[in-house]
Amino acid sequence: RSGPLEDTFGRRHNYLRISLTEKCNLRCLYCMPEEGIDLTAKEELLSTDEVVRVARLFVANGVDKIRLTGGEPTVRPDLEEIIRRLRALPGLRDIAITTNGLTLHRNLHALQAAGLTHVNISLDTLVPPKFELLTRRRGHDRVLKSIDRAVELGYDPVKVNVVLMRGVNDDELLDFVEMTREKPINVRFIEFMPFDGNKFEEKKVVSYCEAKERILEKYPTLTRMQDHRSEVAKNFKLDGHRGTVSFVTSMTNHFCGGCNRLRIMADGNLKVCLFDQGEVSLRDAMRGGASDDELMDVVGKAVGNKKAKHAGMSDLQNMENRSMIRIGG
Ligand code: GTP
Ligand code: 5AD
Ligand code: SF4
Repeated sequence: RSGPLEDTFGRRHNYLRISLTEKCNLRCLYCMPEEGIDLTAKEELLSTDEVVRVARLFVANGVDKIRLTGGEPTVRPDLEEIIRRLRALPGLRDIAITTNGLTLHRNLHALQAAGLTHVNISLDTLVPPKFELLTRRRGHDRVLKSIDRAVELGYDPVKVNVVLMRGVNDDELLDFVEMTREKPINVRFIEFMPFDGNKFEEKKVVSYCEAKERILEKYPTLTRMQDHRSEVAKNFKLDGHRGTVSFVTSMTNHFCGGCNRLRIMADGNLKVCLFDQGEVSLRDAMRGGASDDELMDVVGKAVGNKKAKHAGMSDLQNMENRSMIRIGG
């Protein structure tokens, strides 16, 4: 291993996802249990300084892309400050966010000025009443506004994440593709994954193959593009469309061989894989007085134990994991 962020399979982890909060202003069915979750007490979440400290250490060890997630990252009051302080880290190329877009149209300009380089927005339906069923809240029009705002501000491409669920929104597959005709956005169809409390059923998964076939029937020019290294998506273009279409195929075509991602949860736990349950607390190490070297030893040990695929799980459906809202995707 060449350093603490390389694992035993030679995978180098240059992409860190930091969840900033467990709170969200939506209640999406596929993300959290109906009854909600027990929120971690505020003093047990990483502080602004702690977030910046771990980020600085990871960047010093080869991370060049950080994605801020949640919960919903925009509900964290110090988001702009965090972005600004991350921007100052030498070697950090990308500062990205994955958001539900509910409030982004209001403050994206400020976040961009602070240094935000990439925006992914979740939107699972184009039908306003369905949005309310899916998210148990209002705000469909605001999400659409945020997508347009991000395009206006020059984010290219703005990625729109659509979790496909049979019987819920798979009837809108072609409508989402149609959106890419005029808008320079990247619509990404994501295979539904099981997490605690999200009412996962195998039959709700619309596979990459099925989705692609259905699109091809109406859009025969759908053509695969070269993927970027370590990207989770398979990317396609369509003749005459300004935008593109992609598929995130976690369930039917895992992409673990090229995995470059590590995650820090809002409570300071490190997850070396989305499905990892052997989390280690960086918060406790920091608060116990660990030096930077000691902290990286803890990280290096966890990364050294990373499994080849899916945290070594063969049955994702029956495993215990956090709810998505406490992982951040
Ligand atoms: P880009 O950096 O723009 O490629 O975004 P991203 O796909 O890494 O992040 P985003 O938050 O937009 O996640 C989109 C979907 O990909 C979500 O459903 C994530 O759960 C899923 N995803 C992201 N990273 C991983 C991963 O390492 N493994 C698996 N299985 N799924 C992932
Ligand atoms: N399966 C697949 N993707 C999910 N996301 C949230 N829950 C799931 C799930 N169960 C997506 C969100 C968001 C990203 C971080 O993860 O739509 O875009
Ligand atoms: Fe990486 Fe785990 Fe995702 Fe596979 S499932 S790509 S190993 S985070």
